[in-house]
Amino acid sequence: MSSYKIALNFEDGVTRFIECKAGEKVLDAAFRARINLPMDCSDGVCGTCKCRAESGSYDLGDDYIEDALSEDEKSDGFVLTCQMVPQSDCVIAVPASSTVCKTEQNTFAATVANVELHNDAAVVLELDVDTPAPVFLPGQYVNIDVPGSGQHRSYSFSSAPGETKVSFLIKKIPGGVMSTWLESAQPGDSVALTGPFGSFYLRAVQRPLLFLAGGTGLAPFLSMLEVLARANSQQKVHLIYGVTRDLDMVQVDAIDAYVAKLPNFSYATVVADGTSNHARKGWVTQHIPADALNDGDVDVYLCGPPPMVDSVRKHFDDTGVKPNSFHYEKFAPTAAPKAA
Ligand code: FES
Repeated sequence: MSSYKIALNFEDGVTRFIECKAGEKVLDAAFRARINLPMDCSDGVCGTCKCRAESGSYDLGDDYIEDALSEDEKSDGFVLTCQMVPQSDCVIAVPASSTVCKTEQNTFAATVANVELHNDAAVVLELDVDTPAPVFLPGQYVNIDVPGSGQHRSYSFSSAPGETKVSFLIKKIPGGVMSTWLESAQPGDSVALTGPFGSFYLRAVQRPLLFLAGGTGLAPFLSMLEVLARANSQQKVHLIYGVTRDLDMVQVDAIDAYVAKLPNFSYATVVADGTSNHARKGWVTQHIPADALNDGDVDVYLCGPPPMVDSVRKHFDDTGVKPNSFHYEKFAPTAAPKAA
């Protein structure tokens, strides 16, 4: 391989992707891409360029001093970008804003390919994006400009990265800016996307995964499942998809398709409405099987409305469950997602 794809995640949520040639240091690759990562000495002495590598393999280099990067920091995944030479695609969290680093988010021109209403509760929007296909990490979101409104709305991709056809799962909100536009959107209509954004994305898969989706918070998991399937992942993955009402449950066929594509994938659906005839009722926390928690050796990903996120956190606290990692994204119908 002659180059690696490096995702730089800035602290304001902007993500930029750069190509790093084999043997090249990340700081140099970023400079080629006109991104000024924090730096001072460029010699492994000052520690100014310290970032955190969230996934990927790399050589830390031999020419830095302990004051710049301690053994503890090294084992916590910290790196010096002036020394680090990637040996695979990597994700690097940069402790500075994109503005400080003099870069901006990307914009993409797109046209509507298809608008499909599901149960009068949600819309699957497919867009054709101009080449090159947008790059993003599975789970991330973009801002979609709503034509004619001067406003944008944020949605996670439900499709996998690297495709010129992208899709989104959008909750239908009567009177909502996006929902209103979607009622009359036609194939070929132009829209603009900005992004990608967000720190809610699939990390390196090293242990069982528990995915908890609330409503249209299902979208990022469809993207993650596709990425896992393409990687022929053998890891155990359990998804619990909770909705408020029966009619809010959409794209179950899309989820079910992954049972055949991923050998260790399972899922359950849950409806909160007490009058529903669904087999599982209540909250997702009532339907987490003990084996899906794997005695805490599990990475948990949760995307749903704020009360769901809060109740899952409380459930883990109350039951003493301490997952290896817990990544969540709260979304409100009209606000930008907030991730942790
Ligand atoms: Fe000084 Fe990297 S810039 S240690």
